[in-house]
Amino acid sequence: MEGRVALVTGGTGGIGTAICKRLADAGYRVATNYRNEERAKAWQQEMRAQGCEVALARGDVSSAEDAAAMVRDVEAQLGPVDVLVNNAGITRDGTFHKMTADQWNEVIDTNLNSCFNVTRAVIEGMRERKWGRIIQISSINGQKGQYGQANYAAAKAGMHGFTISLAQENAKFGITVNTVSPGYIGTDMVMAVPEAVREKIVAQIPTGRLGHPDEIAYAVAFFLPDEAAWITGANLSANGGQYMGW
Ligand code: CAA
Repeated sequence: MEGRVALVTGGTGGIGTAICKRLADAGYRVATNYRNEERAKAWQQEMRAQGCEVALARGDVSSAEDAAAMVRDVEAQLGPVDVLVNNAGITRDGTFHKMTADQWNEVIDTNLNSCFNVTRAVIEGMRERKWGRIIQISSINGQKGQYGQANYAAAKAGMHGFTISLAQENAKFGITVNTVSPGYIGTDMVMAVPEAVREKIVAQIPTGRLGHPDEIAYAVAFFLPDEAAWITGANLSANGGQYMGW
């Protein structure tokens, strides 16, 4: 894995930061995209202070043009992308009968259409080089549904449908495609859930706590080495036991 190039979308967020760190520590050359240059540069400095180098490329993953340009930028800086982690995601929670088309479309565009946009820009190179790892960061709520998240659950369930189709099409090319489905992790996204609602959710987690971003990064790293070549189309739950569906 020494020197392989990993692109982690949404790398500046809670789970994304932990994934970037873990992969950089393991010897990958890591890049992420950003939309806000000032914030991204500050984040990059913080990472550097922790001994972790992450390249930055501008691009909104919900736009196909941006995603293609972002991948070209990463390739120019680090070389061809070997590992893609489709991690970028947002929430626009609300009960469906009140949900606006904007709330629906923003979530589908950022969480699901982004997988098409970014993966489409790296897949041909992986197939030519006969090696690749593609990981979707889905969610427990794509597996079980969630009151107030029809948009998010639809996008996250769609991500695993994407995984299992791509896994079949690309197995012959040395590319594995897998999903990690985090439960509730102590990130800004989860902390934005009203406290009273969040407390009820935590009460449903057998481990009795929110997860740590590092616990998701660990699950992602599991799929990457050559020894993991036989594992494709899997959906790995990392949710403290909150949902144990098969
Ligand atoms: N089951 C049954 N009823 C529920 C419910 C649930 N899980 N959650 C809320 N309700 C009920 C309330 O008790 C209330 O009922 P009454 O009107 O009878 O009192 C009613 O729904 C409230 O409905 P409203 O349409 O008025 O909703 P609201 O505007 O107050 O907000 C909400 C509702 C936005 C869904 C809010 O409850 C919420 O934020 N829920 C959490 C959603 C969630 O889990 N988001 C995860 C974000 S983190 C993430 O997504 C990361 C990840 O991958 C895990």
